Amino acid sequence: MSQMIKINDNKWDKKIFHLSTENTSYVIEILKDSTIGHMYYGARIKEYHNSKKYIYMDRGFSPNPKGQDSDYSYDTLPQEYPTNGNGDFRIPAYQTLEEDGSRVSNFKYIKYEIINDKPSLEGLPSSYVKNKDTVATLVLYAKDKVNNLLVKLYYSIFYHLDVITRSVEFINEGSKEIKLLRALSMNLDIRDPNFDLITLYGRHNNERNLVRRQVVPGIQGIDSTRTSSSSHQNPFIALVKPETNEQYGEAYGFGLVYSGNFLAQVQLDSYETIRVSMGINPYDFSWKLSPGNSFQTPEVIMTYTNSGLGGMSRIYHDFIREHLLRFEFKYRERPILLNTWESFYFDFNETDIINLAYESKELGIELLVLDDGWFGKRNDISSSLGDWYVNKDKLPNGLLNLARKIKNIGLDFGLWFEPEMVSPNSDLYEKHPDWVIGIPNRDRSLGRKQYVLDLSRSEVQEYIFDTVSHYLDSAPIDYIKWDMNRNVTELWSEKLSADQQQELSHRYILGLYSILERLTTEYPHVLFENSSSGGGRYDLGMLYYMGQSWTSDNTDAIGRLPIQYGTSLIYPAITMGAHVSTALNHQVGRITPLESRAHVAMAGNLGYELDVQKLNDQEKKQIKEQIKFYKANRELIQFGNLYRLNTNDENENAWLFIDDAKAEFLVTYVKILSIPGAPIRFIRLSGLDPDALYEDTSNGNVFYGDELMNSGISIERVKQDFYSKIWKFKKIGV
Ligand code: DGJ
Repeated sequence: MSQMIKINDNKWDKKIFHLSTENTSYVIEILKDSTIGHMYYGARIKEYHNSKKYIYMDRGFSPNPKGQDSDYSYDTLPQEYPTNGNGDFRIPAYQTLEEDGSRVSNFKYIKYEIINDKPSLEGLPSSYVKNKDTVATLVLYAKDKVNNLLVKLYYSIFYHLDVITRSVEFINEGSKEIKLLRALSMNLDIRDPNFDLITLYGRHNNERNLVRRQVVPGIQGIDSTRTSSSSHQNPFIALVKPETNEQYGEAYGFGLVYSGNFLAQVQLDSYETIRVSMGINPYDFSWKLSPGNSFQTPEVIMTYTNSGLGGMSRIYHDFIREHLLRFEFKYRERPILLNTWESFYFDFNETDIINLAYESKELGIELLVLDDGWFGKRNDISSSLGDWYVNKDKLPNGLLNLARKIKNIGLDFGLWFEPEMVSPNSDLYEKHPDWVIGIPNRDRSLGRKQYVLDLSRSEVQEYIFDTVSHYLDSAPIDYIKWDMNRNVTELWSEKLSADQQQELSHRYILGLYSILERLTTEYPHVLFENSSSGGGRYDLGMLYYMGQSWTSDNTDAIGRLPIQYGTSLIYPAITMGAHVSTALNHQVGRITPLESRAHVAMAGNLGYELDVQKLNDQEKKQIKEQIKFYKANRELIQFGNLYRLNTNDENENAWLFIDDAKAEFLVTYVKILSIPGAPIRFIRLSGLDPDALYEDTSNGNVFYGDELMNSGISIERVKQDFYSKIWKFKKIGV
């Protein structure tokens, strides 16, 4: 612990908190009027001796707090959690509304506490530790003397992974009501203007594309207002130096453990400080804090590295696998599944599913997932969400019978649900029209012909829990695909008072988390896969409950390359559902070789999503081999270390997975288009042991690690679009 948090009283000001991880330092200083100042975050330093004491400077228009000199202004101070309305005109971290209508927030440091553990967050997903010795938490207490709002800033230090997590708790210790108008999870003021901002943007079928732009004066950022983290922007940003590339350079990462409306912004001010802030989106948000009540913000997972984007990704991958994923599948290889969606869509019966299962078993598949269409009168998207009883026309012998038959064939059985939704054309809607989010005297928008249930209501939470647990109790179900296929509109809940209606988006997410916490802890052996029109809610919050996520509805191998690339920036391969589908591809109409489709899907959690009965013998043979190969290597992919190679050529994609011992590795390579007069190509590998002798298992050729990393492996010239190849190397000596 002493290694992680050093506290010094110094002669200039009051207190310095120096937080250390193995390779990073984070320094906080209590400034002269008890404002909590931010001094440094970056590569590890041995000691901090107030090298930034000349931060005070007279700036013409900047106001000065009472009793302070003209060189002291919040407008220019680097702060940990900036207040509102006291002369700092940049983005505040929190803002309050008092009963008299005033909106000034101002707290002062009062004390600190050190916890030799990582506390969990009330009602919210958050990172955790098994071994308390590897973590320490600093809590800074600050109080607004006027309204008696206590603000607790949490910093948990994960020493070996170079991660610091942050969150904030507000407690109303006064006798009057306070409204929180803004309550972000973190703020960081970096005194260096030269950074690029990286974000992951997209849309349905094309999620998490990497965008990199220079930070310029003013505000740049991303958000969601959809009551879902969404496919449009992912709740993750990175700040990197202009020269940072995949292998080298400084990178700061900020990942929010939250699945609802979020905001992530950087603001480069006129004095060359970049303010980074992240948390629940203040847009259409407020929270009533009655006397004695508290509010907890979601957590942010921060890291700093000077090992480039690759180094940053590997930190997140290790951290997510070790400190966020839970339950029995945390350390278990994930099953190769066959999903019925692109195989049959809504058009199937029991015989079709059984035949598909026999064929799947033959190919080596391990889990059969019955997707949409098994319930109510659901033959297209226009009905039955909410009517979670078996469609007897399609499955006359019931679900238990079907599940047993699948199990007897030797496959695990998985089932699709979309429990947060209701179709207007359903028995549930007839019975409980008031359960839907919407305003009684206004039209309600439909999305995918469905409404959203009000998950802030306890009876709705009960209904969803009971529905899903009923099936888990009555049939041998090993896997659940939890889908959510629209965003929320016309926000209003019958159960909330007028002055709490702006709490609904956050309460919806809290309701969802409460259902998921109950379900996943009561059924820890069930593998849950998160889906939301593909990867529309692929975030750290959902991963805490569901150990894998459907990456995108786009199953085209080439379309998947940028999606999987962007996703891998923060999320590890073990979380990334990736399926081989048919050619002609259903989303983009492209024909790609079966081999390339598999090679791309093998960079994540391999699955299949096509009618395998329609394949010819040659294709079946190929798939059998693919599955055999993946089974032999999935430990390496799902638990190994990822190195993205050759990232500056947009026509090529190459990934390398290597184990911790650097004893074996896999390289996947995809070339998108064949180029006329193609140059000689070679790829330099990364992450190997330079002194180890590695053998290419396909032909017995041997190379030292240093040759593979510096000279590279050469790529055969093949005149073919969408070409791919996989190499497997094993260490055979030194
Ligand atoms: C959206 C999902 O992303 C798909 O994989 C599929 O499950 C459909 N919903 C079913 O309606």
